[in-house]
Amino acid sequence: MKVISFEGFEYSGKSTQIKLLKKYFIKNNIKSTFTREPGGNKDLEKIRNVILKSNFNNLSLIMFFFASRFTLISSIKKNDFIVFDRFFDSTYAYQKYNSKEKKLIISLIKLIDKNFIPKITFYLKLDKKNLIRRKDKRLYSNKFDKKYFGQFSRIQKNYEEISKIKIGERKFVAIDASLSANEVHDKIILNLKKCKLIK
Ligand code: TYD
Repeated sequence: MKVISFEGFEYSGKSTQIKLLKKYFIKNNIKSTFTREPGGNKDLEKIRNVILKSNFNNLSLIMFFFASRFTLISSIKKNDFIVFDRFFDSTYAYQKYNSKEKKLIISLIKLIDKNFIPKITFYLKLDKKNLIRRKDKRLYSNKFDKKYFGQFSRIQKNYEEISKIKIGERKFVAIDASLSANEVHDKIILNLKKCKLIK
């Protein structure tokens, strides 16, 4: 089982890349399961909307995200490829403000079944200029996007921070999200090949 995850701030083009990868897997007959967080299965999708519309405090959010995550992991059927649209890095990036939260989130990550630690995490990195340019074109999709939009720098710093923390053998690959969708897609495929996850 090969697990990979996608991360990035709103407007980084994450959804587009996931769609392109899905197409590539279908075209090349690679059996895969695509899932997303929060949510990811029928029951958890109901909780997704509750979480994204909530005013839960930060500590509660950490617990909710991990509770949902552990349930999702145990419900995923084994497949050649599992692709996560957001995973534990999102909790670190979005919900980490201080060292107490850092400790808590890292210790929760350590409880994740080793088989589900991604081989590669693709982080689509967007700079502020491009973020603002893209934001003009689209309204917020949920309360969360709105709440965290003004916290871009903190969230980006947290992504940089977790990229340097050793989590199993996973490789953290940052890709410039201002490139064209096809260029980003090519880089993703190249990395999957380099790590021998695909031929
Ligand atoms: P979504 O609409 O799926 O955003 P995107 O298209 O950018 O993935 O909303 C998911 C929101 O949930 C997003 O704002 C990030 C947030 N989130 C956290 O804050 N912590 C987490 O652990 C996860 C999984 C998501």
